[in-house]
Amino acid sequence: MPATITSIAHYFPPDVYTNHYFEQYLETSDEWITERTGIKERRFAKNGATSDLIVPAARECLQRRGMKLEDVDCIIVATVTPDHMFPATACVVQQKLGAPNAWGFDLSAACSGFLFALVTAAKLVEAGGARNVLLCGADKMSAILDFQDRAQAVLFGDGAGVALVEMSDDPELGIIDHILHIDGEGGKYLYQAAGGSAKPASYETVANREHFIHQEGQAVFKAAVKGMADVSVEIMEKNNLTKDDVDWLVPHQANLRIISATAQRMGLPMDKVMVNIDKYANTTAATIPSCLSQWWEAGKLKKGDKIILASFGAGFTWGAVYMKWSL
Ligand code: ACO
Repeated sequence: MPATITSIAHYFPPDVYTNHYFEQYLETSDEWITERTGIKERRFAKNGATSDLIVPAARECLQRRGMKLEDVDCIIVATVTPDHMFPATACVVQQKLGAPNAWGFDLSAACSGFLFALVTAAKLVEAGGARNVLLCGADKMSAILDFQDRAQAVLFGDGAGVALVEMSDDPELGIIDHILHIDGEGGKYLYQAAGGSAKPASYETVANREHFIHQEGQAVFKAAVKGMADVSVEIMEKNNLTKDDVDWLVPHQANLRIISATAQRMGLPMDKVMVNIDKYANTTAATIPSCLSQWWEAGKLKKGDKIILASFGAGFTWGAVYMKWSL
């Protein structure tokens, strides 16, 4: 019997920042951002931490399943913007939610965080190591964005998506297959230079803006187009899926051009592709679960739908998951 997603929810902070916000102080335009990325607006949290984005989504997710807090077994938080280096944000979430019997940990795989954590959670549940996992993909990207750099400030947003992973009660439905990759050679193109043990915080690292994201956009773009498209096609072929078999592609939302290129390689029309980058930008670990949650809430996602989840992010990390929706 496979593991599956038995409940899903999402949370975005209320404050909307359109592209025009950046026009006020950066040399950029709504036209450039829309054309080059597909982004029109994003949400930034004015207060609080990543755990504060997770908690409302987690409460909603558990409520939808009718699960009591005492029954939560394990909490995994996929994020690159943890509340602190330590303790783990999973511990903060456990305390804020009040889930007395849960254990848990954080997982760092940048934009592939939700996918890597989904596979981890599924295998944990299938092996009997936990009855359920509260799986949180969340990032407060505004905490590490260089708002003086037009090449990154406009790309990201804050948000959270939370899924409950349990054993499926139908052998046909759930998480069926995955292909995951990492390649440290890509590390030099997308990273946060300081604040870790390699380069502890100092006056110099702050002055040099090394606690913000460093991204070489074009190098990442090229690798993302190839990586996400290749792995998506590979998982289709491995599972004998034609383009007509696939009901939904749920791609990581970094750039609409990367998403379109992936859909094109898979032979899928855009009406089979979940896209929320226009309204929320790149929310890193939250893009995939927030899309699933929004589409499920809208009644567009049906039991039995064949779904490919695909991601690419810093590391490099990338992969795809094939699942049949069971809600
Ligand atoms: N407004 C106006 N001009 C801009 C902006 C902006 N916001 N940003 C960059 N430009 C300029 C550049 O300075 C450059 O100008 P120049 O030619 O005078 O030097 C020009 O636009 C072209 O820049 P490129 O970097 O070539 O633009 P590109 O078309 O590649 O788009 C982008 C840049 C959007 C960053 C793109 O490369 C991209 O999406 N990269 C991938 C991002 C990604 O997938 N990240 C991975 C996930 S994130 C994670 O894991 C945390």
